[in-house]
Amino acid sequence: MRVHPSPPEADVVTLHESVPPDAFDVERVRRDFPILARPVRGKKLVYLDSAATTQKPRQVVEAMARYFDQENANVHRGVHFLSERATEAYEGARERVRKFLNARHASEIVFVRGTTEALNLVAFTFGRLRVGVGDEVLLTAMEHHSNIVPWQMLCADRGAKLVVAPIDDRGVLLLDELEKRIGPRTKLLGVTHVSNALGTVNPLKQIVALAHARGVPVVVDGAQGAPHVPADVRDLDCDFYAFSGHKIYGPTGIGVLYGKAEHLEAMPPWQGGGDMILSVSFEKTTYNRVPYKFEAGTPNMAGAIGLGAALDWLEALPREAAWAHEDELLAYGTEALSRIRGLRLVGTAPGKAAVLSFVFEDIHPHDIGTVLDREGVAIRTGHHCAQPLMQRLGIAATARASLGIYNTRGEIDALVAGLEKVRRMFA
Ligand code: ALA
Repeated sequence: MRVHPSPPEADVVTLHESVPPDAFDVERVRRDFPILARPVRGKKLVYLDSAATTQKPRQVVEAMARYFDQENANVHRGVHFLSERATEAYEGARERVRKFLNARHASEIVFVRGTTEALNLVAFTFGRLRVGVGDEVLLTAMEHHSNIVPWQMLCADRGAKLVVAPIDDRGVLLLDELEKRIGPRTKLLGVTHVSNALGTVNPLKQIVALAHARGVPVVVDGAQGAPHVPADVRDLDCDFYAFSGHKIYGPTGIGVLYGKAEHLEAMPPWQGGGDMILSVSFEKTTYNRVPYKFEAGTPNMAGAIGLGAALDWLEALPREAAWAHEDELLAYGTEALSRIRGLRLVGTAPGKAAVLSFVFEDIHPHDIGTVLDREGVAIRTGHHCAQPLMQRLGIAATARASLGIYNTRGEIDALVAGLEKVRRMFA
């Protein structure tokens, strides 16, 4: 069972005021997602692909529509009414994210396109400042490509080296091995909060403490962490934390980079143009203060507002009960899938979150996915953008059912029934 610290002070939101504080009413939650009621291929939709992208509650869609209908204007530059309103809404979303992450200052929240862009930003600004010839960047064997490739590019550019901390066969990070790999040349540690392919929840607080004891800053890929486990950046004490709007019930095209103020201040800008500028001449440009220094061009206002609405929606739910619901569903699914003959769960770390990855006899995961799709069951198949992890586990791909807050036991039952059908077709 995961231990969830108290969430940061929640904004006052009344969307779910009729839900008693100690109960989690999944049917009521589902009513906020019209898409969950639509049929697919003549069957009831069973959406088990939330790690790829979550569905969006109507409150998010409405907040974005309201913005376009009533407030649309460019931010930070207009002197007119609508520009003021849009700026207030955009900066309000930044403050909303600050609260969600329990960051100290709103200026520590940089809006980006998503986790991938956030990690690239850190690699090509902070990374470039810190990493030189012969230095090392430490990662773990379970990272998503987005938390590998930017570091690989940086290392190639700087003449530095990637070092990888191993995992065991269950998908648990070996902390003593990680510690052994932190040496005098280690300039940075990149680690995922929750593995997208396995569901492993890394003990971030412990990892950050280990790294900091050796003066190594920690960059966290929180794409699967923020939606499923507490992401309190002050409690974790991580240096950077990145997550995506679309995996936490918000829109695509918006994401967040949290960075400690002292790092963001010291970092050079990344992309040039628009809001990151104070003044320009052909001789010299002066840059805006943080976070604007990292927000070149017109930002994704509607996306930020949608993300703010998603966090309002999420944090209006009874959080402990919502987390317990996901845990309970994962335990139910783990138990149900374990009983299927010939099915092997991939990723069995204790305390894992939200992901059921598996291989099934010698049936190709794409075949599994295709048969399930005909039953209305949406899962993802493949390497899940974690090819080095698949190599470590000695497999090419898995089938992955991933959970969202709106899933039910009945949907797990539908997955199991679909898998029985797969067996009948292929075995
Ligand atoms: N990284 C996303 C996933 O795990 C796309 O599906």
